[in-house]
Amino acid sequence: MADGFLDNNPGGMDLDFENRMVTASSLPEDEGDNPLRPRLLSEYIGQEKVKENLSVFIDAAKLRRESLDHVLLYGPPGLGKTTLAGIIANEMGVNFRITSGPAIERPGDLAAMLTNLESGDVLFIDEIHRLSRSVEEILYPAMEDFAIDIISGKGQGAVSIHLPLPKFTLIGATTRAGQISPPLRDRFGVVLRLELYSPQELAEIVTRSARILEIPCDSDGAYEIASRSRGTPRIANRLLKRVRDFAQVMGEGRITLDAARKALKKLEVDELGLDTIDRRMLKAMITHYGGGPVGLDTVAALIGEEAITIEDVYEPYLMQIGFLSRTPRGRVVLPGAYQHLGIEYNGQLTF
Ligand SMILES: Nc1ncnc2c1ncn2[C@@H]1O[C@H](COP(=O)(O)OP(=O)(O)OP(=O)(O)O)[C@@H](O)[C@H]1O
Ligand SMILES: [Mg+2]
Repeated sequence: MADGFLDNNPGGMDLDFENRMVTASSLPEDEGDNPLRPRLLSEYIGQEKVKENLSVFIDAAKLRRESLDHVLLYGPPGLGKTTLAGIIANEMGVNFRITSGPAIERPGDLAAMLTNLESGDVLFIDEIHRLSRSVEEILYPAMEDFAIDIISGKGQGAVSIHLPLPKFTLIGATTRAGQISPPLRDRFGVVLRLELYSPQELAEIVTRSARILEIPCDSDGAYEIASRSRGTPRIANRLLKRVRDFAQVMGEGRITLDAARKALKKLEVDELGLDTIDRRMLKAMITHYGGGPVGLDTVAALIGEEAITIEDVYEPYLMQIGFLSRTPRGRVVLPGAYQHLGIEYNGQLTF
């Protein structure tokens, strides 16, 4: 979009690498006016520590009639960063303006956005680690002093204009906190890390979503979907929708444990939420490299995926369930994965 704001495409990601059922990246069907997206902190399930802190900061800012301090949210895709940013704006009772790192091409684009904000507004920059250097430099004084300096004209006649900005709240989101430059990171007063969700929390999310979608869902059916969702609400909601299709077309229109199992089997998502790509990756590491250590680039070549995708999308969950570990010498497949894949483990782990 010309003004750099995105229309309801908070994910703003390319989708080519992902047509997986269990992808955590947002697909077009997840976006738009998504009725499953919580609007209030009280509807946001899990992330208790983050919620507790945020509600104190929000209440305090409201009490003082000030804008909220700048917030940086980080964690793997699909955990609810965009959702949380929207909730913050909603709870503060201010406008929510969305853009993303790659969408802001020139410093002028960002300057235009900043000068259009109203007092207290939330400006959400998704994938903030992808801001260009020159754009980032506009942000420093904007965040710190609520002002920007823009150069007007060229050469000898150029003049620098100092523009005060309304007090606003910048919310940045990233999957890669390590890639944010220190001067930018230091300007966030609040830094919150989102964690993968437990199956119990995801079951609550599935139950809530089923209610909104008006599909009857048993608690063990919800738990079955939850435990195969890789700790990720976006995946839980996607699996729920597909299971609903099966339940409505081939079942009794109700998500029971049996219906969920049958549908997930057809979708080739196994009991732990691994799909064919995860299994292929682990198997290749075992058969060709004795389970590792294997360098990240080699893993990437083995399955024809980009290294960055493997790090952000595949590995967090495989590490969480104890199937993979990152060592200084490379990735190592752990015994649990052998067992899950039905491959004999001969203790060939060397760290
Ligand atoms: N805590 C939660 N409670 C209920 N539903 C949630 C929660 N977190 C996320 N969701 C659901 O999961 C979906 C994905 O969340 P969201 O788009 O906010 O993820 P994200 O972290 O911004 O991902 P990305 O990094 O890909 O931008 C939302 O549409 C929402 O329906
Ligand atoms: Mg997002």
